[in-house]
Amino acid sequence: MQDNSWVSFFPEQASTFAWQVDALYFYLIAVSAFFTVIVVAAIFVFGIKYRERGRFTDGAEIHGSIALETMWSIIPFIISMTIFLGGAVVYYHQYIPPEDATEIYVVGKQWMWKIQHGSGQREINELHVPVGQKVKLTMTTEDVLHDFFVPAFRTKIDVVPGRYTTIWFEATKPGKYHLFCAEYCGLNHSGMGGYVYVMEQRDFDNWLAGNVSGQTPVEAGRDLFENKLGCASCHQGGQNQRGAKLEGIYGTDVKLVGGQTVRVDDEYIRNSILNPSGQIVEGFQPIMPTFKGQITEEQLIQIVAYIKSLSGNAAGGATTGTTANTNATGGNNVNNSGSGSAANTLTPRRADRGDSNNPGSNPNAPGNRSEPTNSNR
Ligand code: CUA
Repeated sequence: MQDNSWVSFFPEQASTFAWQVDALYFYLIAVSAFFTVIVVAAIFVFGIKYRERGRFTDGAEIHGSIALETMWSIIPFIISMTIFLGGAVVYYHQYIPPEDATEIYVVGKQWMWKIQHGSGQREINELHVPVGQKVKLTMTTEDVLHDFFVPAFRTKIDVVPGRYTTIWFEATKPGKYHLFCAEYCGLNHSGMGGYVYVMEQRDFDNWLAGNVSGQTPVEAGRDLFENKLGCASCHQGGQNQRGAKLEGIYGTDVKLVGGQTVRVDDEYIRNSILNPSGQIVEGFQPIMPTFKGQITEEQLIQIVAYIKSLSGNAAGGATTGTTANTNATGGNNVNNSGSGSAANTLTPRRADRGDSNNPGSNPNAPGNRSEPTNSNR
């Protein structure tokens, strides 16, 4: 891995794909510099060589050259394809999270970053992550467009109202790195930032244990589902079931009224809560009320985490991508048999937290802070 510390104005490299982004960047600079030199040199050489020598003299006529024209078509094509391929490889590497990444939820808001770990810890404008671990961020915003930017990781992605975006990284060096909002979002845009703390695993475990946490996202989602929002009255099995059962549904394909099929992912669950009549599952009536305006983005994330946990995806766990029985017999219920998940109970699988469950405390405040012991700045 290369080290750019000699270029003082360049951010340090602290993630596994930082060097890839830099390599592509330097390649672009090299190509640009090469052609700049050639073009400028040609201007001078031709300016002198073909300057006007006498009045009214005509230059020799030129009738084209197949060889020359082919060359100046093919060489730029090859060069531009190397740039395209390099960019595509780096892009797909960054934007497709690996299955085994730890999931952390991020909600942008004018003007702060609200972060919740799978184990329940919350942070504001700070993100603690262990070194050498794959971390996936699932992000959305409560108000306007923001952009999550960690220069040292070369991680930069828009956080868009009304949908989830994901990105992942693996930090390579313990330390303290700037976190910015990179999309103008109003008056205090410039103040919407903080730090990412990359810690050794042992320090990170201490940090997690030392920060009293409230409910995990799964627990909080379950609470909303069963009590606060009353989703369970329709979505739990039994006599009163009027909505689709949700166990084992995550990652499967469900059939909608009208014949379409849709993959149950974070986005679909979110849309179904906010705009229930938009995508009705086959066999059900459009009777569910919208929860728009009654539920925050953080609560939506918690419900998504809970529903995900019903399919055996523990908080922070990976998507199992169970293949669905899209044509479940009876057509009444998309997940009434063999949807590939063993977790057919309403008990969520909880991430191992290693600290006491203290539902009374709500550390939804920037007070949960600790400096890593090995900050290198
Ligand atoms: Cu948020 Cu700029």
